[in-house]
Amino acid sequence: MQLYRLVYYSEAADNLTIQDVKSISAKASIKNESLLVSGGLLYCEGKFLQILEGSIRPVNKLFETILRDPRHKNVNLIEFSRVKKREFEGWEMSLVFFPTSRDFYPEYIKYSGGDSFDPMSLDGDVCVAFLRGLLERQKR
Ligand SMILES: Cc1cc2nc3c(=O)[nH]c(=O)nc-3n(C[C@H](O)[C@H](O)[C@H](O)COP(=O)(O)O)c2cc1C
Repeated sequence: MQLYRLVYYSEAADNLTIQDVKSISAKASIKNESLLVSGGLLYCEGKFLQILEGSIRPVNKLFETILRDPRHKNVNLIEFSRVKKREFEGWEMSLVFFPTSRDFYPEYIKYSGGDSFDPMSLDGDVCVAFLRGLLERQKR
C-alpha cells in the first residue's frame, strides 16, 4: 500500500465549542479506523491543524468531505505527499486541545524555531514533529 500524508490548517466557525470539537474527533476516530486513516488534530485559539495519513483514495475523499464541512473555514493545504511510514500509527484521530498557544510554547519553539503560533509558516515535517511532541506530552 502506498502511503500518503495530508496536512492542512483551518479556522473554526465562529460558534464552534470545545464540545463540538470533541464530537468531531470522536466520530472521526470511528470513520478513520474503517478507512485505515490515522492522524492528529490540534485545536487551539480557534485554529485547526490536522494531519491525515493513509492510502491515496480514502485520504483524498476524506479531505473533500472535510473541505465542505461548515464547522470550519479558510482551509489551507500545507502538504500532500507520499511518505514511507505512518507517524501516527495506532491513532485513528488523536485530538490535542490547548486553550492558548502559550500552553505549548516549549514544543512550538523546539520544532518550529518561531515564537508566535502560525501554522501556515510550518512545513509538513515540522507539523508532524510538533503534533507528535504534543501527543507525547499528553500521554505522560
Ligand atoms: C476540522 C475538522 C476535522 C475533521 N476531521 C475528520 C476526520 O479526520 N475524519 C472524519 O471522518 N471526519 C472528520 N471531520 C468531519 C467531516 O467533515 C464529516 O462531517 C464526517 O467525515 C462525516 O461525513 P459523512 O457524514 O459524509 O460520512 C472533520 C471536520 C472538521 C471541521
